[in-house]
Amino acid sequence: MARETATRNLSMFNNNKMKLGIFATNCSSGITATTVPERWEASWENNVKIARMADDAGIECMIPVARWRGYGGETDFEGESFETITWATGLLAATRKITVFGTVHAPLVHPLFAAKQLATADHVGQGRMGLNIVCGWNFDEFDMFGEAPLDHDERYVYGQEWWDVVRKVWTEPDAFDYHGKHIQLENVVGAPKPYGGELPAVMNAGGSDVGRAFGASNCDFLFTSLRDEEKTPEEIVANKKMAADVGKDIQVFTNSLIVCRPTRKEAEEYYDYACRQNRDAEAVERLLSIRGIEVDKIPAGYVEMMRDRFVGHGLYPLVGDPDDVAGQFQHLLDLGFDGTRISWVDFIPEFEFFAAEVLPRMERLGLREPA
Ligand SMILES: Cc1cc2nc3c(=O)[nH]c(=O)nc-3n(C[C@H](O)[C@H](O)[C@H](O)COP(=O)(O)O)c2cc1C
Repeated sequence: MARETATRNLSMFNNNKMKLGIFATNCSSGITATTVPERWEASWENNVKIARMADDAGIECMIPVARWRGYGGETDFEGESFETITWATGLLAATRKITVFGTVHAPLVHPLFAAKQLATADHVGQGRMGLNIVCGWNFDEFDMFGEAPLDHDERYVYGQEWWDVVRKVWTEPDAFDYHGKHIQLENVVGAPKPYGGELPAVMNAGGSDVGRAFGASNCDFLFTSLRDEEKTPEEIVANKKMAADVGKDIQVFTNSLIVCRPTRKEAEEYYDYACRQNRDAEAVERLLSIRGIEVDKIPAGYVEMMRDRFVGHGLYPLVGDPDDVAGQFQHLLDLGFDGTRISWVDFIPEFEFFAAEVLPRMERLGLREPA
């Protein structure tokens, strides 16, 4: 959906019906818990290269994963990860049009520090910084910070106060006090404001009712996992209505892992090779257990399906030849999504093929305009 009045993060409010965000290049192995040797190497050089390729191809945004430790296994899946705001600042300096998000753990980063750091990055990118607010997911990361996580719903109460403070720092011309349930601040000022004075694009990926309500009332973009195709269209409508009820216009994105090859057979074989035969089994089991999936208590067929999904960290796989994959994006649009995050096993060569073969097909289907 285009926003006629957008003055910043212009890529996020363009006319493309199916928007695309490249996800997780800041982490070793990206988003795929696989042991194949070509799995993603999250070097700075590789990050700049993929960001520039994406920028040239008209991709809307880059989105990092905020991680403080890996998921273990043979590869220590995501064990190396660039801190996301400094990562975004570097990429904003190296690109021209693309929006780059920073992902901030609200309970672990003081809102005044985050507000200033994000505003600084936004000036580097001249209005292209975006903010992904995460309220906390992995408790072993809280332990590292010496913080006890609040109860699930209370984490969003904290997140609301955190975002209220950041927003006030970015908009209040005068000093202010803040007295919330969790956050108490006196005589707060903050300058510079974000570039051009408007608020950066904000996203959230809460999956629970309270998480989605937080996203709908505070964010421009809500990311939801595609679980049940039958229920998805009405959930998207409900999320948009929740936002409209508080005067907000949100776009709903989902999350995809792409394996695209010249033929469907090649794509399916590679998917089987990278994501099944060579998955980092220990890391995948750990992901399942962190997410509370007890493999010995649910049907074996369902467990295998969950293992398939968690190799890609829960991302929905789009597998096939270029026509198949373009058609799968059409399907996501038909379900009601405005966009999706996209990842590959090895981002650079696979994105090259995607840009050459899939993007033109998406243009022919009317899903995207030429860059
Ligand atoms: C695709 C996706 C990406 C996410 N990225 C991060 C992240 O980078 N760091 C993090 O701690 N949590 C991340 N989350 C977790 C969400 O912020 C949220 O905590 C999770 O979806 C659970 O939702 P809930 O808190 O509403 O139960 C992500 C979630 C999804 C679905």
